[in-house]
Amino acid sequence: MICEDRVVAVTGAGRGLGRAHALEFARQGAAVVVNDLGVARDGTGAASGGPAQEVVAEIEALGGRAVASGDDIATDAGAAALVATAVEHFGRLDVLVNNAGFLRDRMLINLSEEEWDAVMRVHLKGHFLPLKHAGRYWRAESKAGRPVDGRVINTSSGAGLLGSVGQGNYSAAKAGIVGLTLVASAELGRYGVTVNAIAPAARTRMTEEVFAQTMAAPGEGEFDAMAPENVSPLVVWLGSADSRGITGRVFEAEGGRICVMDGFRHGPVADKGARWDPAEVGPVVADLLAKAPAPEPVYGAG
Ligand SMILES: NC(=O)c1ccc[n+]([C@@H]2O[C@H](COP(=O)([O-])OP(=O)(O)OC[C@H]3O[C@@H](n4cnc5c(N)ncnc54)[C@H](O)[C@@H]3O)[C@@H](O)[C@H]2O)c1
Repeated sequence: MICEDRVVAVTGAGRGLGRAHALEFARQGAAVVVNDLGVARDGTGAASGGPAQEVVAEIEALGGRAVASGDDIATDAGAAALVATAVEHFGRLDVLVNNAGFLRDRMLINLSEEEWDAVMRVHLKGHFLPLKHAGRYWRAESKAGRPVDGRVINTSSGAGLLGSVGQGNYSAAKAGIVGLTLVASAELGRYGVTVNAIAPAARTRMTEEVFAQTMAAPGEGEFDAMAPENVSPLVVWLGSADSRGITGRVFEAEGGRICVMDGFRHGPVADKGARWDPAEVGPVVADLLAKAPAPEPVYGAG
């Protein structure tokens, strides 16, 4: 029960990874706001209440406490309502898990402006706005002299960290979430809040076609490495008081594997102390690249 009496809001918790996180938080003693707009895999056709309500019923059947939220977290009003729901129902908010999202995959040259905007909106704005409203809530708590031990867990992706062919919009949004995580970690630390990100991999409706091709179903009694439930222990631990002091980090989580993703840092450097002539730059860059580690391959690159 590492989250006993903590209050957690999970966006996109009606299905897949978010559902698994919500259930594990409840098993670990937390009260959970289960947010889900109930949209299709491509983000169309909101059916508010449906999947979120089902997860609330599952948590209540376990003897836990939960409330459904059908708010669109990519709107200012929806994100504010998410935080307000936690405070109204459970008296406060301790943990925000930003997880909601959908895909509109296409090669860049075929990607429409609408497909770009929709994916940017749900992932990038859908992280920023709940983070902003939760951050404002925690700042007010801190200023009122009440102790804050807040946590934000954002959801990036291997696509954002390494790139993924056919997912230019999604990769850009998920890379943006890493930048947002670093800034939020630096800005919210003073209020007693840590901000980390995960890059999960699991079999959900978002990925079932990909993983059906690359992974055979496990045999009877074997470990199902692609089950979404495998990602939740890390998320729940990051949401617990036990993770105090860990902030601004990105963790990859899949099956029984947890990996710290080591992001951009200054590598080999050349400094002339004056402006370079363009013709001089080639050999200097070649030398720097020879000293630098080779980049990891982009997912799906031939
Ligand atoms: N499954 C993977 O392997 C994988 C890999 C990397 C990253 N991710 C990320 O993990 C997160 C969860 O993905 P999943 O695989 O569980 O997908 P999923 O489709 O099973 O679940 C996503 C949920 O988000 C909800 N949602 C979408 N837009 C919303 C909005 N505006 N407001 C509220 N809810 C909304 C959907 O209704 C859905 O229930 C996503 O951010 C995804 O990009 C997943």
